[in-house]
Amino acid sequence: MRRGALIGATGLLAPGPAFTAEQSALHPAGVEAAALADLFWVMLAGAVVLWVLLNGAFFYVTQVNRRSFPRRAGEWIIILGVALPAVVLPVLLAYGLTLMADQRAPGAEGGLVAHVTGEQWWWRVAYQTPEGPVISANELRLPVGARTEVKLGARNVIHSFWIPALAGKMDMFPGRETRIALEPTKEGVFRGQCAELCGASHALMAFKVVVMAPDAFKAWLEREAGPAIEPEGEAARRGAAVFFSEGCGACHTVRGTAATGALGPDLTHVGGRLSIGAATLPTTAEAFADWTRHTGDLKPEVAMPAYRHLSDDEAADLATYLLGLK
Ligand code: CUA
Repeated sequence: MRRGALIGATGLLAPGPAFTAEQSALHPAGVEAAALADLFWVMLAGAVVLWVLLNGAFFYVTQVNRRSFPRRAGEWIIILGVALPAVVLPVLLAYGLTLMADQRAPGAEGGLVAHVTGEQWWWRVAYQTPEGPVISANELRLPVGARTEVKLGARNVIHSFWIPALAGKMDMFPGRETRIALEPTKEGVFRGQCAELCGASHALMAFKVVVMAPDAFKAWLEREAGPAIEPEGEAARRGAAVFFSEGCGACHTVRGTAATGALGPDLTHVGGRLSIGAATLPTTAEAFADWTRHTGDLKPEVAMPAYRHLSDDEAADLATYLLGLK
């Protein structure tokens, strides 16, 4: 009851995705996030207890038993200012320290390993499998109930990998590997967000995290490893022609085609993702058309140029092609 009221009150002060269950450290859906949420509530309870005791004592000596204060000021100062914090704070500190051992524990032995690299406002994703890496981008899929190790890096500047509902933050550095283990406990879609100011579109550097049943995840990873499907229908075929004649394949890979660029996100299965532009837009034909023609307006200083010269029909065909890359 009190949690709900408090979250509601906080939400009024700062409305936005940070306070929805999709991206909330207070609605944990992972082992590490649950420990951090517990830590928050225990610290809050400790702070409330200390606040009530201090103010109760202050009220007592200034309102209830006023005469005792001048005579026994020294005693009250010791009780209020020294004894109470000296009892409450070490208890909270000890509790916090007991949680530390479990944080940042490695992934499961023989478990799934994924590499995520922070790029200029998007996320390069590669799952490590015995058959080789499975390349993806801007979406992380994880099996529920399993411990996945995520190895983190960055291309140019420091980013920070943060999925509030699953775990704490971990910085991503150029030239150095950090890691975090994610153990989701609930299926669902969550939101990750870069948590380190990394440039003009830092706030637009987000991603979706899809936590799936283990079998569904396995099937998804197999599909993700495969090549792109052939464009179906006239519009999609015209869109594919636009894609190749505009040189999109110089920066993007669509496996199974001549497009093998590695500068931008892999688009082999881009139509099957829940968002485009690193959780900037939904995966719809309108959004694809908008994105290809107004890239820098939608995401300032993004490396991809805007293809403003595309006609409405060309942009729509291109969108149909990309949307079909499930
Ligand atoms: Cu990447 Cu902020």
